[in-house]
Amino acid sequence: MIKRDDLVIFLNNYFSIEKYGPDPSMSRMVPMVYENFEWNKYFTQYFSNYFNGLMIEGGENVNTVFGSVFPTEEVLENFIKDSKEGDFLFLHHPIDMECGDPQGLSGRAFLPIKKDQLDKIIQKKLSIYSCHHPLDCHNEINTNLPIAKKLNVKNKNYFINVAGGFVGLLGDIDPISKVDLENKLKDIFDIPYIDFGGKIKDKIVKVAIIAGSGDKVDFFKEVEENNVDAYITGEIHSHIDNERGKNKMKEALEYINNSDMSFFGVSHAASEFLVIKNEVLPLISNNFNILIKDLPLTNWWH
Ligand SMILES: [Fe+2]
Ligand SMILES: [Fe+2]
Repeated sequence: MIKRDDLVIFLNNYFSIEKYGPDPSMSRMVPMVYENFEWNKYFTQYFSNYFNGLMIEGGENVNTVFGSVFPTEEVLENFIKDSKEGDFLFLHHPIDMECGDPQGLSGRAFLPIKKDQLDKIIQKKLSIYSCHHPLDCHNEINTNLPIAKKLNVKNKNYFINVAGGFVGLLGDIDPISKVDLENKLKDIFDIPYIDFGGKIKDKIVKVAIIAGSGDKVDFFKEVEENNVDAYITGEIHSHIDNERGKNKMKEALEYINNSDMSFFGVSHAASEFLVIKNEVLPLISNNFNILIKDLPLTNWWH
């Protein structure tokens, strides 16, 4: 058993939560998603300032630290069911995001945590901590590095500066065909299919990894300027069923269809779960005498 506050101080320092100020995207998304809902009643003052850090403050003592990528209904249900009073959930995003399935239903974009789940979390005195941008661009533990490790990327370089941090990783891999890389990625992320776009290449030697939402034409351009063969990301283009989503999809596809790169989408959730399971939870258990448990999603393309 450990003190919640010791864990929070450790995480805030390790990820330099305050260095970035309010999270560049979550400071917009959280208030938007919780419009007409008194979310500050549930969330800490610290979180309302930074949109990272301890979001829901539960009991003082933590037995188990859980970890996941999004607070989906399923993830929270399992957290509430498997936890004891005071337990702690580390998340990459403070809100759910339904990105859509390239071979199934479109997504509904960002979604709030439902009130009944928020109430159950408060009743059971559970804590939720979220770390978004500071985890995407941390120099030791970031969302891209565990993917690079799995692909054995050499000559690694960080690039694509967003709000004072690098969100992309660039490097060389042993030559591989499009088909073999696709199979390797399906295996790494435990997904049934890849969302593929762009050129089909026999020989891929230079890759860029942008975990999460890599579906930005500005990113595509910066990556292509670096003579990259394969662009590996969560979302190669939007699958979200609204006007904005459709426009983003059109814009991205126009670029992808005329690009010399191969684009591999492995799902937003799976692309960013790896860091939680392989890096963040082990970091916590190496520094504290505590149990850890990752909470995967049944369907990564959600
Ligand atoms: Fe991310
Ligand atoms: Fe993300």
